Amino acid sequence: MRILGIETSCDETGIAIYDESQGIMAHRIYSQIAVHADYGGVVPELASRDHVRKTLPLIKEVLNDANMTPKDLDGVAYTAGPGLVGALLVGCSIGRSLAYGWNIPAVPVHHMEGHLLAPMLEDDVPEFPFVALLVSGGHTMLVRVDGIGHYQLLGESVDDAAGEAFDKTAKLLGLDYPGGPVLAKMAEQGQKGKYKFPRPMTDRPGLDFSFSGLKTFAANCIRKETELQGVMSEQTHADIAYAFQEAVVDTLAIKCRRALQQCELKRLVIAGGVSANSELRAKLAQITEKLGGKVYYPRPEFCTDNGAMIAYAGMQRLKANVDTDLTFKATPRWPLDTLAAL
Ligand code: KG4
Ligand code: ZN
Repeated sequence: MRILGIETSCDETGIAIYDESQGIMAHRIYSQIAVHADYGGVVPELASRDHVRKTLPLIKEVLNDANMTPKDLDGVAYTAGPGLVGALLVGCSIGRSLAYGWNIPAVPVHHMEGHLLAPMLEDDVPEFPFVALLVSGGHTMLVRVDGIGHYQLLGESVDDAAGEAFDKTAKLLGLDYPGGPVLAKMAEQGQKGKYKFPRPMTDRPGLDFSFSGLKTFAANCIRKETELQGVMSEQTHADIAYAFQEAVVDTLAIKCRRALQQCELKRLVIAGGVSANSELRAKLAQITEKLGGKVYYPRPEFCTDNGAMIAYAGMQRLKANVDTDLTFKATPRWPLDTLAAL
């Protein structure tokens, strides 16, 4: 079986074709970063309009890349939520219209299930059960995963998501949207020990996160240094970026260790945009190794939003005969643990 995946939940148009036996046949990602950069964040209306422009041409290109026609497809998977409602509606409408026209099923996919299953596209596939840390621009979640759709939420952010904290702190440091990866690059020049950021909510039991205080801590550092230096030096920028990233990584790692111990599991999966962060990967490799386990993550282009993860998750649900009713709604808010277990 072969499925087309369509991702339009935020600011990336992602299209892919996944074949059950051969894996990813072709995939393309179009990023809207340039559209939103001037505004310092995603403008939902502009995101929707750009998905309208880009989705069909990208589907044509991916079919060409794979040397296929619609007749080679057995289904169309589209991100039905969570995400920006206008952006989701574009993928939902296009996905279901194509499926209707091609007379094949349309499969609604949960965006975070897509992220969670993205490591399954790699050679080294994690076996169930495992603990998953989902860290994106909109979500920070720890989930116990016993199988596809068997998701138990262990903890989540009570305020900003990890990616959001990266982006907001990057903005304070004068970096363009989305600043997460640029801040990470800047941190490479930073010196350890110049600043000590807190590790929020690690001094009490539980697996929830809070990241909004780190952004405030960074703002206070920047204000103090600007008063002292006049114009803050490049080195100070890098030192603050280093200390901020170290605090986020440490906090995530402490909670991951706690979650693994609580679930008595040794396998950890990380996915979502922030899982591309190399310091986070290194730190989680260290802690899982100490526990006699291992960390699994997707290749960098499948960490951030992409069509391949939607095609993969859609394939699993298509094989399980999920409801492919054409009246399925775009669902901007959609808790992961309400998904049907396969
Ligand atoms: O999963 P994703 O593409 O979109 C959402 O579903 O939100 O994640 C995007 C987020 C952004 O906040 C971005 O700054 C962050 O992931 N990100 C990173 C890195 N690469 C992407 N944050 C830290 N380090 C990175 N290398
Ligand atoms: Zn995402």
